Amino acid sequence: MLIRIRRAGDVRESEITPEGLYLSRRHFLAGGAAAALGLSMNPARAETALRALGPLRKSGFSATEERTPYEAVTSYNNFYEFGLDKEDPAANAHTLKPRPWSLRVEGEVMRPQTLEVDDLIAKTPLEERIYRLRCVEAWSMVVPWVGFPLSSLLKRVEPTGKAKYVAFETLHDPKQMPGQNKEALEWPYREGLRLDEAMHPLAILAVGLYGRVLPNQNGAPIRLVVPWKYGFKSIKSIVRIRLTERQPRTAWNVAAPDEYGFYANVNPDVDHPRWSQAKERRIGDFFRRDTLMFNGYGDEVAQLYSGMNLRRYF
Ligand code: MTE
Repeated sequence: MLIRIRRAGDVRESEITPEGLYLSRRHFLAGGAAAALGLSMNPARAETALRALGPLRKSGFSATEERTPYEAVTSYNNFYEFGLDKEDPAANAHTLKPRPWSLRVEGEVMRPQTLEVDDLIAKTPLEERIYRLRCVEAWSMVVPWVGFPLSSLLKRVEPTGKAKYVAFETLHDPKQMPGQNKEALEWPYREGLRLDEAMHPLAILAVGLYGRVLPNQNGAPIRLVVPWKYGFKSIKSIVRIRLTERQPRTAWNVAAPDEYGFYANVNPDVDHPRWSQAKERRIGDFFRRDTLMFNGYGDEVAQLYSGMNLRRYF
C-alpha cells in the first residue's frame, strides 16, 4: 500500500488558512474561476462546493489532535464500490446520486421506519465531532465529522427484547456503483455491531465533514463512524439498518474470516495475519506512531468488552 509522503515545500493551503476562508476560497475557485476560464471541473474538486451544514454543536467527545486537511480526507479513500485504489473513489464516485435518499430501519423494532435522509438531517441536532479513523492498513486520519449519535435513531424505532445486533447495508446499484460489477467483495457491502456497541454515544451516523455535506467518496449521504474500531466497520452510503437476534454477516469477514473479525476493535497487540497493527502513520506525517488500544478511546469503551478474550474475538 502506498502512502504519499509530503515534502517540506508541499504545505497545503488548508494548513495556513483559517478553515472557513479556505473552504469558501476553494468554493470560489472550484465554481467561479473554473467556469470563467472554461475549465471542466474535476468531480473531486467540485465536492468543495458542497452545501454547508449548520448550526453545529461542538461535541465534548472530540479529539484535540491536529485535523487531517480536507483535501487528504476527501482524496485518499477506501470505497470498493468505486475501485480498489485509494485515489479511485474521488475520481469515480460522481456516479452516485445521494439525493433523494431513503434509509429503512427495520427488523426487531416496534416502529420500523423509512426515513428521507434530508428530512432526518433537517430535524436532527447535528454535532461536529473530531474523531480519529484508523484503517486496518495502518494509516489514520483525524476528521471533523458532522453527525448524530446512532443511538438516537435506534431509540426512535424502539428495539424489541430480541434485538441483539445491528446490521447495516450499503446501496446495491451497479449503475451508480460500478465496482459492484466486479466480485471484489460480496455486495452490498455489509457491516454489523452488537446492540450495546451501537448504543454507545461514540458511535455516530455521519452526514458531513468539515461542516459540509459528505462528499460521495466519503459515503454520502449517510455513513457510520465507530472511532474505536478499524475503518472498515464505518460503512458508507447506508440504505438499510436492521436490528437482529443473530450476529449479522459482514463484508470483510465473509471475504477473509481469518483476517477480519466481527469486532475489529483497534488493538495494537493483535496483528493482522499479514502485517503488524502496532504502529500507524497519520496521513501527512513522516514518522509512524504507536497505535493505541481502542484507537485511544479505551476509557470510554473498554467496559463493553470486559471478560472477553480479544484475541479470540478480534
Ligand atoms: N463502505 C463501503 N460501502 N465500501 C467500502 O469499501 N471501505 C471501508 C469503510 N467503509 C468501505 C466502506 C474502509 S476499509 C475504510 S478504511 C473506510 O470506509 C474509509 O473511510 P474514508 O474513505 O472516509 O476515509
